[in-house]
Amino acid sequence: VRILITGGAGMIGRKLAERLARDGSLGGSPLEHVLLVDVVAPERPAAEPPFEARAGDLAVAGVAPELTAGRPDVIIHLAAVLSAEAEDDLEKGYRVNLDGTRLLFEAVRTQGGGYRPRVVFASSIAVFGVPFPEVIGDDVVPAPLTSYGTQKAIGELLLADYTRRGFLDGVGIRLPTISVRPGPPNRAASSFFSSIVREPLHGREAVLPVSDDVRHWHASPRAAVAFLLHAATMDTDPLGHRRSLTMPGVSVTVAEQIETLRAIAGDGAVALIRREPDESVRRIVATWPRAFDPQRALALGFRAERSFDEIIRVYVEDELGGRVPPVAA
Ligand SMILES: NC(=O)c1ccc[n+]([C@@H]2O[C@H](COP(=O)([O-])OP(=O)(O)OC[C@H]3O[C@@H](n4cnc5c(N)ncnc54)[C@H](O)[C@@H]3O)[C@@H](O)[C@H]2O)c1
Repeated sequence: VRILITGGAGMIGRKLAERLARDGSLGGSPLEHVLLVDVVAPERPAAEPPFEARAGDLAVAGVAPELTAGRPDVIIHLAAVLSAEAEDDLEKGYRVNLDGTRLLFEAVRTQGGGYRPRVVFASSIAVFGVPFPEVIGDDVVPAPLTSYGTQKAIGELLLADYTRRGFLDGVGIRLPTISVRPGPPNRAASSFFSSIVREPLHGREAVLPVSDDVRHWHASPRAAVAFLLHAATMDTDPLGHRRSLTMPGVSVTVAEQIETLRAIAGDGAVALIRREPDESVRRIVATWPRAFDPQRALALGFRAERSFDEIIRVYVEDELGGRVPPVAA
């Protein structure tokens, strides 16, 4: 199988590439070629070939046709500008998240000759905005209240239309906030949901900009990779015309996150969380979904963690070699 991964240098892209390198196959088919692209050439997993890494800006005309010239069977579209940056820089957000996506889908369409790859689009629960029910079911209509959420919602519509017209076989997956995210804090407004666990586990201070009663929807990076692989290989007939699915996750409050951290890493870790209310983050987060009832995704075989304890343990296994480091109180 031939695969193209955009945003291959990103957090999820790197983990996806590592997982593919470990498996050596996708859905039982051996990997023939895996092309990773990002604005700077992504690191290639040790297994090469079939891995190739290229630098390219998807929002520049002419780049997407080069990437799709080899007619990949599966395209996993992760390249994006994240929520806080898309809100701060309106032009960049629309250029990458909308124009980049459209140019990619157009490159697929104009290949012609019956080319119809599986396209997995990384959408987000940010497509939902208030007012929404406390628990969002599969029939709630996306009505985003951020530029990022709007760009993702447009991507979902394009994916559905290009699928309906027969140019591609699309699956949009609305990712929960991915926690615990490795690496330094990033430019997503949701960054603190990971920092308040990750930084204390490394013995570093973390800033909590919102109150403890904020409830949100989480899944681990490992679960995100599993969603993408399932979306790349599943039978898409049961999707009908509704090509985007809300992914399963774990609904917890910040207080529950902190108590889970305490149970795993102790009071010393929790003492490293410093409360520093930030009105702009509070305002953004207040419009975010708190819980979902993702029946369609569950029925189609998507699985996430069942508790925040499991989510922290995935971080400890995947990033800390399975050991909870002693944290100085
Ligand atoms: N991490 C989360 O919590 C989360 C939640 C919901 C949705 N998502 C979506 O999942 C996808 C991957 O997220 P991530 O956490 O790995 O983000 P990330 O920021 O780590 O990775 C995104 C990558 O896209 C690349 N990129 C940006 N503009 C580009 C362009 N013009 N051309 C080529 N590459 C470009 C960036 O350089 C970056 O490496 C994104 O589409 C994101 O919107 C993530």
